[in-house]
Amino acid sequence: MSRILFATSEAAPLVKTGGLADISSSLPSALKALGHDVRIVLPAYPSALAGAGELIRLGGFKLMGHHVTLLEGQMPDSGVKVWLVDAPALFQREGGPYVDEQGNDWPDNAERFTLFCRVITELAMGRAGLDWCPEVVHGNDWQTGPAIALLSLEDGRPATVFSIHNLAYQGYFSREDFIAQAIPEALWSPESMEYYGYWVMIKGGIAHADRIATVSPNYAREITTPEFGNGMDALLRHRQDRLEGILNGVDTRTWDPEHDPLITANYNLKRLKSKAKNKTALQRHFGLPQSDAPVLGLVSRLVEQKGIDLVLDALPTLLDKPLQVVMLGSGNKYYEQACRELAERYPQQVGITIGYDETLAHLIEAGADLFVMPSRFEPCGLNQLYSLRYGTPPIVHKTGGLADTVVHASKETLADGTANGFVFEHPTVEGLQWAIGEALKCRAEQKCWRQVIANGMNQDVSWTHSAEAYVALYQKARQDRG
Ligand code: ADP
Ligand code: GLC
Repeated sequence: MSRILFATSEAAPLVKTGGLADISSSLPSALKALGHDVRIVLPAYPSALAGAGELIRLGGFKLMGHHVTLLEGQMPDSGVKVWLVDAPALFQREGGPYVDEQGNDWPDNAERFTLFCRVITELAMGRAGLDWCPEVVHGNDWQTGPAIALLSLEDGRPATVFSIHNLAYQGYFSREDFIAQAIPEALWSPESMEYYGYWVMIKGGIAHADRIATVSPNYAREITTPEFGNGMDALLRHRQDRLEGILNGVDTRTWDPEHDPLITANYNLKRLKSKAKNKTALQRHFGLPQSDAPVLGLVSRLVEQKGIDLVLDALPTLLDKPLQVVMLGSGNKYYEQACRELAERYPQQVGITIGYDETLAHLIEAGADLFVMPSRFEPCGLNQLYSLRYGTPPIVHKTGGLADTVVHASKETLADGTANGFVFEHPTVEGLQWAIGEALKCRAEQKCWRQVIANGMNQDVSWTHSAEAYVALYQKARQDRG
């Protein structure tokens, strides 16, 4: 049994902008189930303060001119302890965790996440006046990078593991910010957090962690190449012997078609007929005709990474046929507008909701016939895993974790029982159109369709293997630390 401090800037359902939040809730829960003593540490955003149950004040201290209170709550589903770093001037504000209501980065993000990292460091070093000290600190993404770097300067520190959920988000700040936040000069070098004159927070984790994880084996390979390395590939190649890809798991309680309270009708592989009730509800929700036409679903942040432009360009030709498309997403204003325009042009075939809606996300997974995920790159991706579980075969581009989890339905894979979706090789409009065509052909043949759905629903996408892989990684980090 290990004591693990799991440091993250989001955790569902307390605060979520994407998959990091899902993982920050489901991985600690899986580790707890394996008998480990895990504490999540998270900034005390308003939604976190409201959602973490009864809060106990563990202590307070002054850091960087702020009065910081450490509050202990619990994750609603798993009961994992969550420590909230309450510095009201920095975290108690309306808007997102990283951006304001207009979508602009908070101007004081350098200060906000430096303070968070300093608190993580104090907790890790047992200097916060608590009677609990971690053996492993597990940082996630750029928001925790400086904590791993600061810890590298400490004697008697715990072992450190750093997970990269998305290398495209790095936490870029200036030299002036670095000085203003009084980060030790020892951490300003190309071997540490400096990058061509900038302060890049994610480098703190990559350069200094005892072990580095990323969220799929394929992405672990990809990020050591210039194409996917976002400028970090040389450093990652240098640290390749410490880097490992561990596939994300799914919170199988939240994402379970058999018991999901957010969908219209529950179902499983044996009672697949009930899935159709979700389709009807979905069509009704979007005001689309309640026909047998195949429904393609999409739930996504609307950003370039996700290949939304490919969907927008591929659809007009495909909509000549009886096909419906439902989309839920928010992000880039240009894509939001283009999605709205598509729905206006095809009111009988395309439904779109711009915004963030957990319930609708579940209904799309359950009610659509196929799920579209043409990401240009995808560290792991969770929606294709949810789709597999919900009997909604995914159509994906062969990249990152999508390539690790989705097997194209071909003669061979249908014969060997691995086919679970539709995969195209290159992120082009033609590629996506081809894969959608393949999916529709399969859907028209009962045997193919039934098998692809069954293979997906029977696939183990739980944390069972991956949580154990993290435990082994913690062990390696502790050995490296000595
Ligand atoms: P990423 O983290 O890159 O956005 P993932 O596939 O790992 O991609 O995770 C996305 C998560 O966010 C999933 O749980 C998905 O259901 C959810 N999600 C994304 N956009 C929305 C939205 N508009 N409404 C509800 N949930 C969303
Ligand atoms: C990131 C990635 C996504 C991954 C998620 C959780 O947001 O974009 O692919 O599934 O993190 O690890």
